[in-house]
Amino acid sequence: MTIAGKAVLVTGANRGIGRALVVEALGRGAGRVYAGTRQPLAHPDRRVTPLTMDVTNTAQIQAAAGQVESLDVLINNAGIWLFDDLSDRAALERHLAVNFFGTYAVTQAFLPLLTRSQGTIVNNVSLMALAALPLTPAYSIA
Ligand SMILES: NC(=O)c1ccc[n+]([C@@H]2O[C@H](COP(=O)([O-])OP(=O)(O)OC[C@H]3O[C@@H](n4cnc5c(N)ncnc54)[C@H](OP(=O)(O)O)[C@@H]3O)[C@@H](O)[C@H]2O)c1
Repeated sequence: MTIAGKAVLVTGANRGIGRALVVEALGRGAGRVYAGTRQPLAHPDRRVTPLTMDVTNTAQIQAAAGQVESLDVLINNAGIWLFDDLSDRAALERHLAVNFFGTYAVTQAFLPLLTRSQGTIVNNVSLMALAALPLTPAYSIA
């Protein structure tokens, strides 16, 4: 798939890999880049449309989906990575809420638009999803 002229949505777009993906999509000629962030975002490129979207917040996800007219590529990038040893149930639940159910909820919300465009879903997951590390088991599970 080429990115030129396409509409791309990146979650967790304000920093780290997500921010780099926004830059990359713009550099490859994306027509529109939707930048999903928890805090309001200002971006100098007019092709960037900020979407306030905590991936654990159903109302925000629905509101964001309502602002997107068409979408070709959904990049599920938002995620957390915390150290744990599975003794803390809250850490596991937090990872599942963001990395697993957050990705699931965003995907479900934007699926009709992606189906219409015959688009693509990209899930940015770690190698640790395949080969778990004892330092971050909840991250690997989620
Ligand atoms: N770094 C690596 O080596 C690596 C390798 C493979 C895969 N990954 C995956 O790549 C993704 C990005 O990693 P990164 O290194 O760029 O991480 P990062 O710098 O910690 O950035 C994480 C991004 O996710 C956002 N986020 C966290 N919780 C969120 C929520 N509930 N709703 C919406 N956004 C949320 C953060 O927003 P805030 O600024 O608001 O917190 C931030 O924009 C993650 O899913 C990670 O698992 C990372």
